Amino acid sequence: MKKESLYKVVSHLLSPPRGILAADESSKTCDMRFEELGIAKTLETRRQYRQLLFTTPNFAKYVSGVILFEETIRQKNDSGVLFVDLFNKTGVIPGIKVDGGLVPFDNFPDEQYTEGLDGLSERLKEFGSLGAKFAKWRCVFRIDSAKKSPSSTVIHANLGSMARYASIAQSNGIVPIVEPEVLYDGDHSIEECQDVMSQIYRVLFDSLKAYRVDLGAVILKTSMVMAGKSNENQSSPEDVARYTLDVFSRRVPKDIGGIVFLSGGQAPEQASSNLNAIAIQSKLSIPMTFSFSRALQEPALKAWLGKSENSKNAQNIFEKYLKQNSNARLGKL
Ligand code: G3H
Repeated sequence: MKKESLYKVVSHLLSPPRGILAADESSKTCDMRFEELGIAKTLETRRQYRQLLFTTPNFAKYVSGVILFEETIRQKNDSGVLFVDLFNKTGVIPGIKVDGGLVPFDNFPDEQYTEGLDGLSERLKEFGSLGAKFAKWRCVFRIDSAKKSPSSTVIHANLGSMARYASIAQSNGIVPIVEPEVLYDGDHSIEECQDVMSQIYRVLFDSLKAYRVDLGAVILKTSMVMAGKSNENQSSPEDVARYTLDVFSRRVPKDIGGIVFLSGGQAPEQASSNLNAIAIQSKLSIPMTFSFSRALQEPALKAWLGKSENSKNAQNIFEKYLKQNSNARLGKL
């Protein structure tokens, strides 16, 4: 029964034409984005901003699930209704980011480890009682060939913890999203990116198997395979799709529940075009969709600027990007 309900959540989250909104920026990251635009950094402005996103017209038409930060899962709209209850009324599934963030990895300069396993089972129980049906755990790898990073040691440490998280989430009746992000920052080539992601996925799926995780109840959240932001040869959508799908077909087991993409600092139009090319080229039976944060939110945040008189326009812009990525996941951009 537990297994069936996990599968149901996965299939709902991946159901066309929708995707997952990542709204799980920590308060610190959200404040950083607000500060850049001169928006007041308070609990209340963060709530108002999330309310603006979640009450956008046609939100539930394009969004199957929302990843929340722990602050937001307890928040309410202006009428006193919990955001989670709003979601449940419209068929949007609430999810929660549960990793404890990044810390430096000792003896490996510039590499990072994701914390958060301590007390995880209890936290998942609590988030489950607040309505979360899925969770997210992110670790981060930066490609720097001169420094030979990411190192095998850091890859293994992070992905071991990620697999342990996935097993704890499933035991608590929560679908795990596993997100080993490979940063777009850097001057690496698309081939270097593909090599690193191949290595990461080999270790990730070996670890998930070793921890006896049910792959059908796991969602992989992935970067796209592409040249780094500072490489002068930027990858075309067709190349991004070809290299990305090549890694998936070699490294991602066919029985995984689904694959969703992060945008990783790509410009909004670029992320949509790449997703569209992936949808067009994919011959895989694995369902795929978007789970963007910045590529969906950035234009709306810039339009809002923390002012209520801008809310309508910001929602129109947000709806435009939701629709655009819904079309892109179908290869119909
Ligand atoms: O962890 C990062 C989010 O889940 C995705 O954010 O689309 O801005 O990369 P992004």
